[in-house]
Amino acid sequence: MKVLVLGGGGREHALVWKLRQSSRISQLYCAPGNGGIAEDAECLPADLKDINSIVSLATRLAPDLTVIGPELPLNLGVVDEFTRRGWPVFGPTQAAARLESSKSFAKEFLQRHRIPTAHFAICDSIDQVRSALGHFHAPVVVKADGLAAGKGVVIAKTKEEAARVAAEMLSGKMLGDAGSRIVLEECLKGDELSFLLFSDGERVAPLVAAQDHKRVGDGDTGPNTGGMGAYSTADIIDDQMRDWLVHHIAQPVVTGMKAEGAEFKGVLYCGLMMTARGPMVLEFNCRFGDPEAQPILMRLESDLVEALEASIAGRVSDGDFRWSPDASVCVVMASGGYPGTFAVGKRIDGLDEAAKVDGVKVFHAGTTRRDGAFYTSGGRVLGVTARARDLETALDRAYAACAKISFEGAHYRKDIGARALKR
Ligand code: AMP
Ligand code: GLY
Repeated sequence: MKVLVLGGGGREHALVWKLRQSSRISQLYCAPGNGGIAEDAECLPADLKDINSIVSLATRLAPDLTVIGPELPLNLGVVDEFTRRGWPVFGPTQAAARLESSKSFAKEFLQRHRIPTAHFAICDSIDQVRSALGHFHAPVVVKADGLAAGKGVVIAKTKEEAARVAAEMLSGKMLGDAGSRIVLEECLKGDELSFLLFSDGERVAPLVAAQDHKRVGDGDTGPNTGGMGAYSTADIIDDQMRDWLVHHIAQPVVTGMKAEGAEFKGVLYCGLMMTARGPMVLEFNCRFGDPEAQPILMRLESDLVEALEASIAGRVSDGDFRWSPDASVCVVMASGGYPGTFAVGKRIDGLDEAAKVDGVKVFHAGTTRRDGAFYTSGGRVLGVTARARDLETALDRAYAACAKISFEGAHYRKDIGARALKR
């Protein structure tokens, strides 16, 4: 079969790498892809902000399956359009993707269905913010309602700061339309967990859990990023917790969305905070996480095509997927200055040497290929991913590979998975 993957980051490289292993696939395309993906799939240009560009590409390729990586095409309604045309596509409809594209929708949905989440207030004006702040204790989390590529959340240390950030978001100067509505949230404490599931609209099947590292600096310091690294191990949560999360969070979400007429098919990503009061939902994503997809897919032993088709066909069931008991870890190498402004076009050296490290796969995120060499083209450049019997060995392997790679300004966190090792 012919498969088309939409996107061009580290997550899409991991998807392409895993799909490549399926005996069912004869042709694999990725749009727009990147320098590294081009070694595993035929990359084609496409503007993922433009639904017509996507439709005309798919008309030309006639794929038997299209897999959508990032949130933007989901929010544009690509799944709705493909489904109308009878084209097989993996992902939720625009209405179902509101779980990610509108934080106020997600919070009110959680409240309606009594799913645990932080206390919140939805505000459309600075006056509403000021009066709502009376019901909060500092620190207060201020969130833009719309999609903001990871830049829409600020943890304000004081109420004054919260009001200032909210005013800036509401003015449209900071995030454009995404900030025209604000969600204020109680600040939760605990460990974060990325809990992803395949859903067929009715049932769910959990993937192995992972932990992301959102802050740019070691020890969780500095600003938030799209994710600087992630790991996945067999003991990150036990079976009892996994079942609890399915029964009290994931299944109620899928059942609730169906009851509200917006059936959710695809990958449901529950971003959780494991608090002293129990697990609580921080956010939903309607897609694989990046960089969580890299370590998660490295542990998937069964055929990814089967999982995607089961979701589309309404036959997801727990136990269909085989996962390795191994540990896996992804360390993101980023451009100097990221998550702020950064330069691109820096030559990347040492990729061949890094690839020789046992158990390592270097996924490309922001790279281009020119005359046989790779150059940086984005903030997150590479996801150096390793698998081993235990987390310690996986970390040793990933960091050994990172040490072989160089480009001007490169930086990466040295403490991915460190908290888990200490436990
Ligand atoms: P979100 O996009 O909503 O997941 O927010 C991005 C990040 O901000 C999360 O991964 C958390 O690290 C942090 N965050 C979001 N909401 C809260 C909250 N209510 N309490 C503490 N941290 C939060
Ligand atoms: N790693 C978080 C995300 O994919 O949004």
